[in-house]
Amino acid sequence: MSARYRVLVVGMGKRGAHHASAFHANPRFSVAGLADVDPARLKDAAKYGDARTGTDAATLARELRPDVFCFCTPPTIRLDLVRLGVESGARLIAFEKPVAMSSAEAMRIRDLLAGSRAMAVVSHQHRYGEHYRKVAEIVASGALGRVHTVYATATGWMLHMASHLIDYLRWYNGGAEAQWVMGQAAGRGKLSDLHSSPDYLAGFIQFANGVRGVLECGAGAPDVPEVDYWWRKCRIGAQGTDGYAEVLTGGGWRAVTRTGISSGPGSMNYDLDMPGYIQDMAYWLDDETKVHPCNFASAYKGHEIMMGLVRSALQGGQVALPLASGMDEIAQLKEKLPASRVLLSASANAKEYGA
Ligand SMILES: NC(=O)c1ccc[n+]([C@@H]2O[C@H](COP(=O)([O-])OP(=O)(O)OC[C@H]3O[C@@H](n4cnc5c(N)ncnc54)[C@H](O)[C@@H]3O)[C@@H](O)[C@H]2O)c1
Repeated sequence: MSARYRVLVVGMGKRGAHHASAFHANPRFSVAGLADVDPARLKDAAKYGDARTGTDAATLARELRPDVFCFCTPPTIRLDLVRLGVESGARLIAFEKPVAMSSAEAMRIRDLLAGSRAMAVVSHQHRYGEHYRKVAEIVASGALGRVHTVYATATGWMLHMASHLIDYLRWYNGGAEAQWVMGQAAGRGKLSDLHSSPDYLAGFIQFANGVRGVLECGAGAPDVPEVDYWWRKCRIGAQGTDGYAEVLTGGGWRAVTRTGISSGPGSMNYDLDMPGYIQDMAYWLDDETKVHPCNFASAYKGHEIMMGLVRSALQGGQVALPLASGMDEIAQLKEKLPASRVLLSASANAKEYGA
């Protein structure tokens, strides 16, 4: 029988529960431990087998020495938890997006992982949605001809949504390297959110294969009227010489190619997306050549694009990638972003960003 990997899940809020549940349901994993600073979040631990529980992740990590160190905590404590994962000796560290709160932190995480034996994945699990996959399939089939543009929009704000958008936009562009970005940012409202962000970020990405990336995230991003649920108002797609294909996070997929118009169902669904995401961790742990689609190296490149766009907004002009040195982009935004109120694209955004 294949090895059963022992998992410690740290942070048992919404996403921690999704992870614990998916690990528990997969015969290749057993949930050995669950940690949360809030003991109330551990009351359902029995649902995930006979896991040990505790409020101190470091103690549990030291005592359990898990194969997989998974954390689903707020975005403000990434580096410390990656360090804990590395020190625990885990072979795989699985954590939530965004990769980090700044390029400086992301670089420290990258260096820490590079100096360790741990592989790492970041939860861009929308990739497992049938509608997301269908678009990837159409792009890869060549049905769009020569792809020249990839694009992504979301009405949710940057540190929640841009990480997802950029990951899928890079996917639809075959993982090509980004050479430079140029962006703009507006609105200070969400700078005080835990997922601290400008209310609106927009910009362009130059990819090495000549493809143009276009990203919009937040208050000024276009509405996706086909989708009712606000957090799923995301449109991600690719345009080529022979047509286009796009996914709506909460509204299926559609394509127009030389052979006609087609469309199909799909809506982001954690229950459907998590099993494949978790199973690919087992495949990677079993065989190092079966690299997880949501691997850290790829997520890091996406994070660089996001922070490059913010730097461009701060400093003006184009920003060359890869970034040569780190900075705290959010702290700089807090200092420099003008006070003028963000302008909305649609009334649907008024609830979150004000009228
Ligand atoms: N991939 C996705 O689709 C997706 C969706 C929603 C949220 N997220 C991300 O997941 C992360 C968590 O979001 P959430 O909605 O589950 O938040 P949440 O607030 O529901 O849960 C976070 C949990 O972490 C615990 N915690 C905080 N500090 C801790 C520490 N030092 N040690 C142990 N536990 C600690 C909190 O008590 C809380 O229970 C965020 O980064 C968010 O951006 C991802």
